[in-house]
Amino acid sequence: MSIMKSVNDFLSLLASKLKGGDEKAIDQQRKKGKNTARERVELLLLDPESFIEIDLFVEHSVKDFGMERKDLAGDGVITGYGKVENRPVAVFAQDFTVAGGSLGRAHSKKIVKVMDGAAEAGIPLIGINDSGGARIQEGVESLCGYGEIFYRNTKLSGRVPQISVILGPCAGGAVYSPALTDFVFVVDRISNMFITGPQVIKTVLGEEISQEELGGAMTQASITGNAHFYSRSEPEAFDTLKRLLSFLPPNSGEQPPERKDVLPEKQLGDDVIPDNRRRAYCVKELIRGIVDGSDFLEVHEHYARNIVVGFARLSGRSIGIIANQPRVLAGVLDVNASDKAARFIRFCDSFNIPLLTMVDTPGYLPGVDQEHAGVIRHGAKVLYAYSEATVPKMTLIMRKAYGGAYIAMCSRHLGADFVASWPSGEIAVMGPEGAANIIFRKEIAEADDPDACRQEKVREYEEKFANPYVAAKKGYIDTIIRSSETRNTLIKALSMLKQSRTGAAHGNIPL
Ligand code: HXC
Repeated sequence: MSIMKSVNDFLSLLASKLKGGDEKAIDQQRKKGKNTARERVELLLLDPESFIEIDLFVEHSVKDFGMERKDLAGDGVITGYGKVENRPVAVFAQDFTVAGGSLGRAHSKKIVKVMDGAAEAGIPLIGINDSGGARIQEGVESLCGYGEIFYRNTKLSGRVPQISVILGPCAGGAVYSPALTDFVFVVDRISNMFITGPQVIKTVLGEEISQEELGGAMTQASITGNAHFYSRSEPEAFDTLKRLLSFLPPNSGEQPPERKDVLPEKQLGDDVIPDNRRRAYCVKELIRGIVDGSDFLEVHEHYARNIVVGFARLSGRSIGIIANQPRVLAGVLDVNASDKAARFIRFCDSFNIPLLTMVDTPGYLPGVDQEHAGVIRHGAKVLYAYSEATVPKMTLIMRKAYGGAYIAMCSRHLGADFVASWPSGEIAVMGPEGAANIIFRKEIAEADDPDACRQEKVREYEEKFANPYVAAKKGYIDTIIRSSETRNTLIKALSMLKQSRTGAAHGNIPL
């Protein structure tokens, strides 16, 4: 055999492996509006030339499982390492055109290998999921493959960022690997996640629901909260993913990359809080008036919208922001908002990202539904996450900080390093109306004009308690600042706290 011939043989073998599934399967993939696994790796890596694929030549052991002999290119998954904005990442992309991207033994071993590689190198792991689930012909071998992946997802949690992109079906127990990772991306009309599909639900419970309604992209982004980022197309999802990575360090032992300081497009003035205390406003506009370049990457944008969380930068340095949203449910804390905030806080703490908490909340949402949904247990996660966090913690009280929510939203008592309030801050056990009705009940009832008396008592209470001065006199808040001074004050505070603390070592799933 001449050298030339063997090279040709190699090249034709390589071409068939690189192609993935057959023409029909690739055609089907395109008809569903989906890219192939290889195209997706290219969309992810800014520099596709940087990709080093491993295990392309791995084959599954067909005989063991009585499968009809088929050449399953790469056993239905592409694995390797590459660079995003010149920073290395580990990648796997399931290839639906090869046996439906189903997970057999060799397939899972390939994924496990890059997971171990990510741990060893201390780099983020990105998984692109598009699979019919456990490869039925391989029986228990596929189940053990999933188990080994879940085990590693858990061990890697809080050590390297783990990101899942759902670009096709993700069903049965397979959903638990993405659920154990830090961030899940879904794409409109392409992603589907559920434990059991519509058919099983109809058979067992008689309930009818479409696949899209049950586990489609918007369902996962808005109702269940299983997905953190929703996109309209695959390229949009990968662009957001790259933006996300730009805020993160490669692992928990390193600091996030710093960028050039850029002023916000429009800085805050002194009139950002409406005169009428009951008027709502959008906290995202205030965030954009504070952070570098007004660049705010919101996480969980469509879920529990009464709290806003996401990444931004202050003077070039990554921060994680947790802010009550007065525009939705007046910014109350409830079960879902608590879970959303707690998980985000734990992520930032794992990866050395300082926290900025922006407070304007009337407190925890009262009601039978919330009590029975476990608001005590879920609310406790916020207290736990803030108390546990050892990254620099800054708090800004914008308006209402009532009752338990004053404590929970990163008060000094939970270890905040720096707490500022605007003059509009109201730190009290409860809102003036509720408080006046309780403590002056008798006087109001016996007054000639109860309404006038109530208003008078509300005013009295406001003057006495609903302001930042009582807390400032006692040193519970460090300073009172004009809203126009916020950015500069926070930058100064952060630079003082800069060297003092890094995150704690822990996983990222709140208990
Ligand atoms: C083996 C599979 C497969 C699987 C799909 N294929 N899923 N092969 N094991 N789990 C193969 C099909 O036989 C077909 O091969 C090719 O992939 C494409 O599948 P289609 O059905 O033609 O595609 P589509 O119509 O788009 O339907 C996609 C699908 C459907 C909805 C995902 O394939 C499906 O329902 N698959 C089974 C899903 C499932 O029940 N998985 C097991 C879940 S339990 P050919 O050769 O015809 O092209 C599980 C346990 C994990 O995952 C537990 C972990 C703890």
